[in-house]
Amino acid sequence: MNDNRQESSELLSLHKIGKTFKNGDRSICILDGIDLSIAVGESVAVTGKSGSGKSTLLNIAGTLDRPTTGTVMFKGENLSIADDVRLSLFRNIHIGFIFQSHLLLDDFTALENVCVPAMIAGLTMNKAKPRATMLLERVGLADRLGQSPLKLSGGERQRVAICRALMNNPDLLIADEPTGSLDEQASAQVADILFSLVQEEQKALLLVTHDRQTAKRCSAAYLLHNRILEPLA
Ligand SMILES: Nc1ncnc2c1ncn2[C@@H]1O[C@H](COP(=O)(O)OP(=O)(O)OP(=O)(O)O)[C@@H](O)[C@H]1O
Ligand SMILES: [Mg+2]
Repeated sequence: MNDNRQESSELLSLHKIGKTFKNGDRSICILDGIDLSIAVGESVAVTGKSGSGKSTLLNIAGTLDRPTTGTVMFKGENLSIADDVRLSLFRNIHIGFIFQSHLLLDDFTALENVCVPAMIAGLTMNKAKPRATMLLERVGLADRLGQSPLKLSGGERQRVAICRALMNNPDLLIADEPTGSLDEQASAQVADILFSLVQEEQKALLLVTHDRQTAKRCSAAYLLHNRILEPLA
């Protein structure tokens, strides 16, 4: 691949990312000089022990947190120097987040929850409903549109969360242990749905998972260890 093509397909790139947390008068370095890039349509997995800094890295990649050192570039824009207003607009348009805990709104129906990102972006509920309905049907929840998340199973809730993350047609999905709170069967089903949708909708995926098998399904897989990324053996 020549240099030009590489540049044009690059979506997200992290350069020399460092992160230090201050705890009283002590400083703890969690990440040190991390380089990571994701191209359009590519999926990248990050594994690592609990406390190794996976969520910290994802939060920085998704601009929910700022690095202590280094830069975050997205489609050529340096997000490290963007203000908070720009970043929240950027996230709403370009990134879909899926967390271990679904973070759905219990007072809203499944359909309304999926519509929320579109409404934040300025669409009316009526304009948002067709795509939200299509996504929920796609993940097998056609008969649960009007249900509160309180009355859904854990796996169903995560499927709603996947639809919500895809609602605004983001370039990149960032998923932090999306199946971490599910049993083996629900976990496999949700992972299958996530990978199929990522492929069908041609999204890039940055995924944190404890599960090596799931990590290996991605186009690249890394282990976060001793504050740096190494290829997953
Ligand atoms: N805001 C914060 N202030 C201080 N320390 C923090 C903060 N956020 C995270 N840490 C510390 O940074 C380290 C990495 O945390 P992080 O949540 O990124 O780990 P993780 O790899 O996602 O772990 P897990 O697999 O358990 O989710 C931990 O030691 C944690 O205590
Ligand atoms: Mg974590």
